[in-house]
Amino acid sequence: KIVPVIMAGGKGTRLWPLSRASAPKQFLEFLGETTLFQKSLARVSDKALYEPPVIVTNSDFRFLVAEQARAVDMALTSILLEPVARNTAPALAAAATLIARVHGSDAIMQVLASDHEIDADATYFDCIAKAAAAARTGRLVTFGITPKEPATGYGYIEIGEEIGNGAHAVRRFVEKPDHDNAAAMLATGGYLWNSGMFMLPVGHFLRELQQYAPEVLNAASEAVAKAQHDLDFERLDAEAFARAPDISVDYAIFEKTPIAAVVPSPISWSDLGSWDSVWKTGQRDEAGNVADGSTTVLDTRNSLVISRDIHVAVQGLENVAVVASEDAVYVGRLEDSQNVGRLVKHLAALP
Ligand code: GDD
Ligand code: MG
Repeated sequence: KIVPVIMAGGKGTRLWPLSRASAPKQFLEFLGETTLFQKSLARVSDKALYEPPVIVTNSDFRFLVAEQARAVDMALTSILLEPVARNTAPALAAAATLIARVHGSDAIMQVLASDHEIDADATYFDCIAKAAAAARTGRLVTFGITPKEPATGYGYIEIGEEIGNGAHAVRRFVEKPDHDNAAAMLATGGYLWNSGMFMLPVGHFLRELQQYAPEVLNAASEAVAKAQHDLDFERLDAEAFARAPDISVDYAIFEKTPIAAVVPSPISWSDLGSWDSVWKTGQRDEAGNVADGSTTVLDTRNSLVISRDIHVAVQGLENVAVVASEDAVYVGRLEDSQNVGRLVKHLAALP
C-alpha cells in the first residue's frame, strides 16, 4: 500500500488577508464546505490503496490538523511537527526517514500538497496507479500538468523518452523560471508544469537526498531520531531541525536528480496559491467576475471580489482583486498576485 504524506506547513502568504499566520489557506474553507486540507485527506481515504497518512506541518498548526482530521473521521499514522519552517525538502526528508523506519525503505510514499483543488476522478486514480508503478522501478515520480500560460510560480518539466507504465524520463526540471524563460519553454513545447504532487520510493529518495542535499538529510534524520512523542504528535528535535537549510524539494532534488520521471496527468488541477488562481478556479459570471460573500460589483470586469464580513462594493475596475477579511482589506491587480507575499513581509516588518 502507498503511504500518503500531506505537506501542510506552508504559510500561504500570497493569499493575504484571508490566509493568516494563525490559519493559512490550507485550513480555510475556500470555495466549498470542507477545507483544502480536508479535501487532501479525502483523496487518500481509500483503505485498499492507502495506509493512514503522515502529516508534516508546523508546530503552530498542530491543533488545526488534529481537529480537522477528526472532523472528517480520518485516522492518521502520525503528525510530524516542525519547530521552525524550513520549506519542503527538510519536511519530506523527515517524513521519508520516519516512513523508512515504520514501513521499511521499499515503501512508496505519495506526497500531496494541501493547497490544491483536484478532481479525484477515475483519470486521477489512473495517474496515481501509473506513478506508483513507475516509482516501484526506482524513479522519483512527478505528475505533469499541461501548461496554460507562462506562469512563474510553478516548476517546468521537459519531457524525455517513455520509460513504461505511461511515465517519461525527465530531461530537465526548472523551478519557478522568470517570465521570459517560462514563455520560451511554452513556445518550444514539450514542457509540463510540475503539479507539486510526487510518488517516491522511500529508499531511493533518501539516497538522492544524501547525494544532493546531505545537510537537509542529516538535520532532518537527526530531528526524527531525537523526536519527542507528545499526545498525537511527533515533535521533531528543535536544535537538529533548525540546522536544515531552508529549501524546497524542487530546488534541492528535482532540479538535480537523474532518476526523476513524469506521468503526464490530464486531471483537473489547480494550485490555489495566489488570487489569480482563485479567480481562475472560481465561478465567473458573464463579466468575468468571481464574487464571494457580501459584495456588490458594478461596471467591473475580470475581477475577484471576496468579503468575509463587511459589505464590499466595487465599481468601474478591471482585472483587480479586492479581498476583505474581518480586519484587513487587500486591493491589487490580479496580474500582480505573485507579489502579495512581498507585501506581507512588509506588513510583518511594521511596528
Ligand atoms: N510541512 C511543511 N513545511 N509544508 C510546507 C512548508 C514547510 O516548511 N512549506 C510549504 N509547505 C507545503 C504547503 O502548505 C503546500 O501544501 C506545499 O508544501 C507546497 O508548497 P508551496 O509553497 O505551495 O509551493 P509552490 O506552490 O510555491 O511550488 C510547488 O508547487 C507547485 C505546484 O503547486 C513546487 O513543487 C512547484 O514546482 C509546483 O509547480
Ligand atoms: Mg502551492
